[in-house]
Amino acid sequence: MRPNYPPRLPLAFLPTPLHLLERLSAHLNGPEIWIKRDDMTGLASGGNKTRKLEFLLAAAQAQGCDYVITVGGTQSNHCRQTAAAAARYGMGCGLVFSGEKPSQTQGNYLLDQLCGAHLYWAGEMERGAMAQEVARQVTAIGRKPFIIPLGGSNVLGATSYVAAMQELMLQLEKERLNLDFIVIASSSGGTQAGMALGAHVYDFRGRILGIAIDSSAETLTAQVGALATATSTHLGLGLQPIADRIEVNDEYSEPGYGVVTQIEREAIQMVAQKEGILLDPVYTGRAMAGLIDLIRWGAFTRRQRILFWHTGGLPALFAYPNELV
Ligand SMILES: Cc1ncc(COP(=O)(O)O)c(C=O)c1O
Repeated sequence: MRPNYPPRLPLAFLPTPLHLLERLSAHLNGPEIWIKRDDMTGLASGGNKTRKLEFLLAAAQAQGCDYVITVGGTQSNHCRQTAAAAARYGMGCGLVFSGEKPSQTQGNYLLDQLCGAHLYWAGEMERGAMAQEVARQVTAIGRKPFIIPLGGSNVLGATSYVAAMQELMLQLEKERLNLDFIVIASSSGGTQAGMALGAHVYDFRGRILGIAIDSSAETLTAQVGALATATSTHLGLGLQPIADRIEVNDEYSEPGYGVVTQIEREAIQMVAQKEGILLDPVYTGRAMAGLIDLIRWGAFTRRQRILFWHTGGLPALFAYPNELV
């Protein structure tokens, strides 16, 4: 059974590259590490949200909407890619951030402004409630808003990673490559949910390990499972046995969201210095730190092959100069 994909608006340069990290693999003296470069999707510095926005914006346009609203922190990669995607299709964009206006204009927050997004701060209010309020305001001036949830993680966002698994399987076939594991940063769960369902649909034989960024394994596993199930139904696949495909490791999330400690710093510097590839401080830096730690603990054999799926986030590096060097 094949998914019945909804319409999508092109935003990403696909397929994203897949390649071996030769020097990093040798340095860690463990499994072979490959990387899939969703940091190179190409939309205002790229990232995993670009894939999600292809389906989300198509749905917005199909409903006649001309203004997208979403929520996040001021360094949200999702907000930045939403602002860029809206610009690309001539739509308005409102971003609702938590807390108060920051004193410095940098990183993703700078790029949001370059892309012309309207910015709102929730302050004491709940972000979702503020997004509804913004929707009311833009409706009052004659625009038609479309609200995108945190991280673009609904069935449409997750759908993009079902399709991404098909893309990966074609690349693996071409390269005559088998993978034992895919390691990703997992936060709002849409990426992992789509991958888990896609792995089932396209018969990926390896395991997918989500490194939890800011939730407990229990919470994130339930969240990913529920979204994968809803996505399966949405794509006309019905109920599929995917619970076993959802693995989450929350051992690296303890410092909290956006807190850069020695392990993230080491991972970011190591990948930059061995491969010339830039990870981000919040998501991929932490996920790579987890992978490095697991390798050091002997969680993988030298004969195994791991794929680190790079989900982007470069601009946030510029908001953490003191923590990173
Ligand atoms: C760079 C990066 N990697 C990974 C993630 C996590 O993706 P998801 O929210 O789909 O779990 C995000 C989410 O914001 C992100 O910005």
